[in-house]
Amino acid sequence: MRAAGADPARQREWNATLREYHTADAAMQTCLDLASIAARTDLPVLILGETGTGKTLLARVIHNSSRRARNPFVAFNAAALSETLLDSQLFGHEKGAFTGADRRVKGKFELADGGTLFLDEIADMSPTAQAKILRAVEYGEFERLGSELLLEADVRLISATHLPIARYLQTDTFRKDLFYRISGITLRVPALRDRPNDLRTLMASEIATASAVQGKAIVGLSRAAADCLLAYHWPGNLRELRRVIDTAIAVTEGDVIELDALLMESGAGPDEEGRGKTALASAPLPEGDLSLTAAERRHILAVLEQCGNNKRRAARLLGLARSTLDRKLARH
Ligand SMILES: Nc1ncnc2c1ncn2[C@@H]1O[C@H](COP(=O)(O)OP(=O)(O)OP(=O)(O)O)[C@@H](O)[C@H]1O
Ligand SMILES: [Mg+2]
Repeated sequence: MRAAGADPARQREWNATLREYHTADAAMQTCLDLASIAARTDLPVLILGETGTGKTLLARVIHNSSRRARNPFVAFNAAALSETLLDSQLFGHEKGAFTGADRRVKGKFELADGGTLFLDEIADMSPTAQAKILRAVEYGEFERLGSELLLEADVRLISATHLPIARYLQTDTFRKDLFYRISGITLRVPALRDRPNDLRTLMASEIATASAVQGKAIVGLSRAAADCLLAYHWPGNLRELRRVIDTAIAVTEGDVIELDALLMESGAGPDEEGRGKTALASAPLPEGDLSLTAAERRHILAVLEQCGNNKRRAARLLGLARSTLDRKLARH
């Protein structure tokens, strides 16, 4: 199970309920409205969204907001599972069930009894794992390895994936019967770049939290630094935002984060839907010279301007060595 952060701020986040979640963005509001409905029911929930958008945390927050909040939240990473340990991990085993089984161990279904079983990275599950989970979910019964006693567990399932599961259904990589069992309410968590109305607030709250955690008194960002964060495409979403701010705070000595302190995953490519382009790159076609050379020149100048003419920073955003940028600037 994902450990809650060691510091109190992260612990609070892990123990939050939906009441503490706010958004100024329509797509995120739809997601939170559905999450509230999900929290009032026992229906299975499927959470979709790019990596780092907060799916795992949302699963936990739905659990915290549900009638099951006082019972366990058990996470199970379907991707990280070896086939040999599958039965034992899911359903547990008796002492002596196999070599090395020196005591009785409960499986995830049993551990989650009365609470929530969170199936993470669901689209990565092997066909064997899919079949075993389907059986347990369909009949509500399972047995521990080495035992014939049928056990029942009252669990609510929440599943998540960052992969395009709809495509996996078409290619039969993911079983349709299992999909219908786990996708009672489907939540789509928007990418950070699609939450323009939330970005400033999220930046500010990350700065406040990280500053407190690191014992610093940082009050905000310089204009250029703020503009740079607002224009960035955030391929790693909230996880990347947190890392960028944490690092920026660690290297900042004054009370304001400057452009130089921002280290993003520049060069991270677009995802398979073709998203993840910078706002600059997705702008409508300009008038005039449409040659690649002219486009490169325009793009370099736009990024430079965005970075307040800081060449080191611009080179990083462009995915170029500083010397390459200098050469290109001289040529253009
Ligand atoms: N609403 C939020 N506000 C601020 N930070 C958040 C929020 N939700 C999640 N985070 C932070 O973003 C990071 C990623 O969150 P999480 O692990 O839930 O993402 P994920 O979608 O499950 O990613 P993955 O697909 O890689 O499993 C974590 O550090 C988490 O604490
Ligand atoms: Mg996750």
